[in-house]
This record gives sequence, C-alpha cells and structure tokens, in this order.
Amino acid sequence: MPDRFPPINPKFPHFMHGGDYNPDQWIDTPEVWDEDIRLMKLAGCNTMSVGIFSWASLEPEEGRFTFEWMDAVLDKLAKKGAYAVLATPSGSKPAWISVKYPESCRVRADGVREPHGDRHNHCRTSPAYRAQCVRINTELARRYRSHPALLVWHVSNEYNGGECYCDLCLEAFRTWLRARYNNDLGELNRKWWTRFWSHTFTKWDQIRPGDPSIHGLTIDWKRFISDQMLGFFKAESAPLRELTPDIPITTNFMGTYTGLNYWKFADAVDVVSWDSYPPYHDRDGDWRFAQMTSFTHDLNRCIKGGKPFMQMECSPSVQNWKPVNKLKRPGLHRVEALQSVAHGSDTVQYFQWRKSRGGCEKFHGAVVDHCGHEHTRVFREVADVGRILSKLDGVIGTTVKPEVAMVYDWENRWAIDATLGPRNQKKEYFETCVNHYGAFWLAGVPVDVINMDCDFSPYRLIVAPMLYMVRPGVAERLERFVADGGTAVFTYLSGIADESDLCFLGGFPGPLRAMLGIWSEEIDVLYDDETNTVAAVEGLSAGLSGAYDARIFCDIIHTEGADVLATYQGEFYAGSPAVTVNTFGRGQAYYIASRNDDRFHTDFYGRLVERLGVRRIIHGPLPTGVTAQVRTDGRREFVFLLNFTRDAHTIDLGSGRFTDMDTGAAVTGAFPLAGYGSTVLTRG
Ligand code: GLA
Ligand code: ZN
Repeated sequence: MPDRFPPINPKFPHFMHGGDYNPDQWIDTPEVWDEDIRLMKLAGCNTMSVGIFSWASLEPEEGRFTFEWMDAVLDKLAKKGAYAVLATPSGSKPAWISVKYPESCRVRADGVREPHGDRHNHCRTSPAYRAQCVRINTELARRYRSHPALLVWHVSNEYNGGECYCDLCLEAFRTWLRARYNNDLGELNRKWWTRFWSHTFTKWDQIRPGDPSIHGLTIDWKRFISDQMLGFFKAESAPLRELTPDIPITTNFMGTYTGLNYWKFADAVDVVSWDSYPPYHDRDGDWRFAQMTSFTHDLNRCIKGGKPFMQMECSPSVQNWKPVNKLKRPGLHRVEALQSVAHGSDTVQYFQWRKSRGGCEKFHGAVVDHCGHEHTRVFREVADVGRILSKLDGVIGTTVKPEVAMVYDWENRWAIDATLGPRNQKKEYFETCVNHYGAFWLAGVPVDVINMDCDFSPYRLIVAPMLYMVRPGVAERLERFVADGGTAVFTYLSGIADESDLCFLGGFPGPLRAMLGIWSEEIDVLYDDETNTVAAVEGLSAGLSGAYDARIFCDIIHTEGADVLATYQGEFYAGSPAVTVNTFGRGQAYYIASRNDDRFHTDFYGRLVERLGVRRIIHGPLPTGVTAQVRTDGRREFVFLLNFTRDAHTIDLGSGRFTDMDTGAAVTGAFPLAGYGSTVLTRG
C-alpha cells in the first residue's frame, strides 16, 4: 500500500463537495440554473453528480438526442471552476425502451413481467437493454470526453434489484452453473446435496432459482446475481473506458447491501463510492449508528486496498423513505461528513442539491430547500462543511493503516441468512460484527474491515465473528497467521459449513478446531428475553471480571488444549467453558462461545489491545459515544475527534502537541468538544 494515493482525478487535488444535481427537472426555468451556480459557490460546493436519471431528457425517442441542456449545465459548471461526476442513465429507463424492448423489463419470480415504471428494475441479461446502455454511454462519452467539467464517471445508480427470472436470466444462470461445476451435473447435485427431498436434477434446464430448501442453490444464485451485475457494469463501462481512459469510473454502492458482493467489483472500479443513510436520532443512541457507519466506511476503504473512496451520497438533513425521518440535529451533519473523511473518503457528496418540486423524493433533504434561498440552517451547515473541507487538501490521498482487522464476508452472510436453525431470527451477522468492532471504535483504535480471502499478514489481530462458512484454504491461512505470532478471535457459529453450505463432518468448528483447541458439541439458543451468565475465571489476564449477560447463542464446547477464561453459570451446561484461548505456534486463538453484552467486548478487547500493544490514537480514555480516527501519509497524521452524543465532552490529548486544522491554533491537554462536535487535528 502506498503512503499516499493520488487524488481520485489528479486534475482536482481537493475535496469534492457537492451532490446529486437534477437540472433537467428545471429545464423550463433556466434562471434556476444560474441561481444554483450562485448558491454552489456560497455553499463551498464544487462537484455535482449530473444526469443520473436523465435518459428521457437526453434521448426522448430512440436516436433523437437532446444534449443541449446538458451542454449548457456543464459549461456553466466549468465556467465557475466546478466539476461534474457525470452519470450514465441506466438506473431508470425511458418508457420508449420498455415498450419497444419489453425484454428490458424485469420478470418476477412468479413469471410475470413487470410493467414500465419506477427505477432500478431492468433485466441485467437482456442484450437489447445492454445495447441501449452502450449506445447512450457512447454518445455521452463522445460528446463530453474533452469537456473541462468532466471529473469522474458515475456509472448507473445503486445497482440493485438484479433478481430477474426471465428466460434469458435463467439460461444465463444455467450457463454460469455449468462453468462453476465443469459441466458436471453430478458434481452440482453432490454440492447441493440434492438427494435430500428428491431434489436431484437430471437435466440442466430443470434448475430454477428460488427454492429456499436448497441452500447451495440459494448461495449460487446470489453469486450469479453479483457476477451478472458485474458483467452489466463492465458492458456499460466499456465505451467510457475506451473513449475516456483518463477519467476514473465508479458506481455507487449501498454499504453492506446483501444483494451484491461488492468485493467482486474491486478491480472493475477505479474508485469505490458508497451512499450512507444512517437512521440518526432513533432511540437507540446516535453513536451506535455511527459505529455501523464507521464500520461500513472502513469496509469501503478496504475494498480497494486502503485507497480513498468517495462518499457519494448522504442527506444534508433528512431522508424521506424511513418510517420516521428526523431532522439531523445541529452539528450532526458536520460530524457525519468528517467521519467519512476520517475513514478514508476524499469527497462529501449529497443526495441532493435541490429539492425537486414533485415526484416521490420532493421531501427528501437537500442543500437547497423549496424556499430556494441560502438562509436556512441546513444550507449554513453545508457551507460550514465546505469551509472546513477547503482546509483539508493535505488529507487527500492519505489512508489508514490499522493493526486490527475484522472479517465481514458477503458469502458468509448469505449462508447464515439462508440456513435454517438453530435460530431463525436475530442471527444478526452484520450487527454482531459491528458490536465487536464497537469496542475498538470506542477506544479510538483504527480497524480494517476485510473478507476471508484478504491477506491477513499486515495485521496483529484478526476478529472474525460468526465465521459460519469457511471457504477452501481459509483455515490454513488463518492457522499460518496465528502460528506466525498473530492473534485471532472467533465466536459461536464458526467453522460450520463449506462454500456450498455442506457441514464439516467430524466435529465443529471444523477446520478451525485444531487452531482453537476446542470442540463444539452442541449449540443452545435462547429466546429474545432470556439470558445466561458468563463469569470470568478470576486471576487470568483476559481483562474479564465478574459476570456478563449472554443472549441468543450459547455454544457448548469442550477444550482440547485451550485454556478456559470464563464459564457459563446457568443451564445444564453451567461450569462449561464460555471463553477460551489456545496457544498455536507463536500466536493465540480465542473462542467466545456466546453472544455477550457490550461490557464484555469493552473489557475483552480493551485488555487484548493493551496486551498486544496495539496503538490507540488518543492516549486517554474517550467518553462513550466519542471516537478518534486517524489518516496518515506515513509522516503526518490527521486525527479526527468525533462526538456522536448531544453532550459536550472534554478529550484528554495528554502531552501530545496538535494543530487544529480549522483554526490553526496549537492544542494540547484537555480539548473541549461540543455536543455533536467534530474537529481535525494534525499531530506534531
Ligand atoms: C438512494 C439513491 C438516490 C436517492 C436516495 C434517497 O441513495 O441513489 O437516487 O433515491 O437514495 O435517500
Ligand atoms: Zn432477465
């Protein structure tokens, strides 16, 4: 990994700040465009995502192009020194396409073709739709390849809804299966364990997705959807690659959206981008959502090996599609924006620049409200973000180099979600990963979020909760990591099945058993309101003390060489091990047998971080709900202090000497942080 990555587009070595901009909705009132340009300047906005849903405005009938409005808008941006993240419009197709090429409309699982309307609902296989996308994208790239405003390509929008059951998709799925199973139906039947319920397939065309009783099929269908979407992305990007080889290409992801394995896109995009919409001000506490968001930022940074990413969308104020859409409280917007920067984003982009007058998103937050002027709280807060971003040029291209990695793996999630038993609600793989991650977040310890195929060697500590699926070679790589002196932490529901959801025989946790020095005989599950108790074996140095609540999953294990750090206190398995550690080679592997409360994670990981000498960004303890994160180019450090609580706090910077990047003031010792306060300091 380089110490400093080049800017996303080297012609703009600054923070991009702006968002989704729909000037075609105001085509009849072009004075609004001039007002937009004036307001962008005031808000410190410099980069607009244009044309995301503009196909009908660009090509009202096949072959008749109306690019004049886009020419005018891009010219206006360029004249003011602003830029465009120029979109390809495939996310929403014009009615003439649906009518002329019905195969472009998606088919539901029951075989009914969907009518025209809505968005993100085209068939990804349809050669006719692919051809239409290539055609319009070629026109766009030809027309704007030399335009000074063109900065980044925004291909389509939030790829999702790829589950189409048309004949073309079913055929493509079968072709994909033939490739995966070397054209050997017997092999497929074995991997899918199809003798169960007489599911044996004797011809390829008998196979249909959508049977939840065959887990291998369910997981392969998801793999296929990801590959098919990637194929679609590559097809529609091809003209851009050819005509504008110097313009970086991205497509905006949706965090941990389960429908696509975003790691598959890593090599195909030049820069990762994602859209972040946490449900702040829910009753659970903002900092819990902040942890989820930080986790997802870290994941997005890791998809391209630590390369800075783009926060492509967030709301400057509210959403409109959640059951309750609360206003962001003063300060929260800035802390959320700086949070994305802290984790590696080189942009802060919004959905949306200006509220639309009609349509189903007219009440979604925007920089410019229906009132149309700049004298609003939201506009002022956006302008404040623009102001601070303009001081952060030095942060561009810097990255995060954590000593700790969490494993969050899409295929593992698919397998956990698909499988039946031992509990079918509250499996909560993502939430569980975030709960473990939370202990590091609260302590100000940076973390990478990787998948099980990533290189483990850069880390000192790997945490892999609920590693249900273990793909071939992974256990061996984990063993090597630990044997070479690494520390790894696993939990209940690990080492259960292979990549086809076939259980490991001979005792769980299957291929992780030798490294962990335990055997899991059974797993007990609890009702939502039940708890068991896990008590520390006193005198051991795991940092555990007293008793902790265990919920939902309680794995019943036997040691096979591991030491016991805590035991269950209740049920017929009282006294049996609940937390263990095994020395394996020069390293250690921990097993946490139950789903424990937050205090457990704080104690356990707090001690582990201390014992391993993992560096914390700020020496003193951080108040609950405040995190510290860091970006670096290897010489200079940028420290972000982020308060996700309503209350003011004082942060102990110790004797470290910092400079406040906003005010330029030298700071040390006790540093005051207002409620929802945020700041960027440089160290040294
Ligand atoms: C998504 C889409 C946008 C918009 C926002 C609203 O992120 O990409 O077009 O619909 O949601 O939050
Ligand atoms: Zn289809």
